[in-house]
Amino acid sequence: MAGDTQVVGDTQQGADTHFGFRTVPLEAKQRMVDEVFHSVARRYDLMNDLMSMGLHRVWKDLLVSRLRPPKSDRAFRLLDVAGGTGDVSFRTVEAGGPGTSAVVADINGGMLGVGRERAQGLGLADRVEFVEANAESLPFADKSFDAATVAFGIRNVPRMDKALAEMRRVLKPGGRCFVLEFSRVDVPGLDAIYDAYSFKLIPGMGKLVTGDAESYQYLVESIRKFPPPEAFADLMRGAGFRRVAWQPLTGGIVALHSGVRI
Ligand SMILES: C[S@@+](CC[C@H](N)C(=O)[O-])C[C@H]1O[C@@H](n2cnc3c(N)ncnc32)[C@H](O)[C@@H]1O
Repeated sequence: MAGDTQVVGDTQQGADTHFGFRTVPLEAKQRMVDEVFHSVARRYDLMNDLMSMGLHRVWKDLLVSRLRPPKSDRAFRLLDVAGGTGDVSFRTVEAGGPGTSAVVADINGGMLGVGRERAQGLGLADRVEFVEANAESLPFADKSFDAATVAFGIRNVPRMDKALAEMRRVLKPGGRCFVLEFSRVDVPGLDAIYDAYSFKLIPGMGKLVTGDAESYQYLVESIRKFPPPEAFADLMRGAGFRRVAWQPLTGGIVALHSGVRI
């Protein structure tokens, strides 16, 4: 597969990292990622449906079913890191009872703006809060959330190890962390189809829908640069999570990683 080396958790000052297939200084990556999501924010949700042929909904629903927000009025507070336009948070509060609420933390004001509009439209503005924040230094108190999620967001964060440690810090003991991210296709034949689809079709589709092929070129490249599930599990353990596990979904296109703060 194209571009199959990774940088796993190298966060030293002056170190290099990947922006898609390009090697860039660690300090430069966030600005480049921010440009991508500012550019696509308005069309982000539509593109998600088109690119994944609706599958992202199935993957997110599976994540919410693993979260199991209480149906009762028992308080359950979710932190959805790199939560973008709010998809996972909306699904969680809709699945939970009246005590379930969510905070969407994202570095990008454009994505959060779309999310706030969606929350109003869905009548969920009083249960889903949007906070502009960097995953690497979350502006929340220690032990203040029952669960934390990050869906298709962690690979965009330059220092993934810091973001994971921050998620652990804000979780209450016993709180669970779920990371939904693209992974390694492990079905012979599907890998070639998936590669062709990703590199030949998605950037063109992105150009048609958002006018921006480059952002989608980055997105497909960044998927290939994301560490394999074993290496990401090590990163979660290194951040202090226990009972770390992962479940491949749809032939390994995506994996649902999980861990617990003990
Ligand atoms: C592919 S989108 C995922 C959005 C949402 N979780 C979903 O599943 O639809 C990735 C998100 O990561 C956010 N992001 C990138 N770097 C970040 C950082 N350092 N801290 C917080 N959010 C970040 C982007 O702004 C973008 O909204």
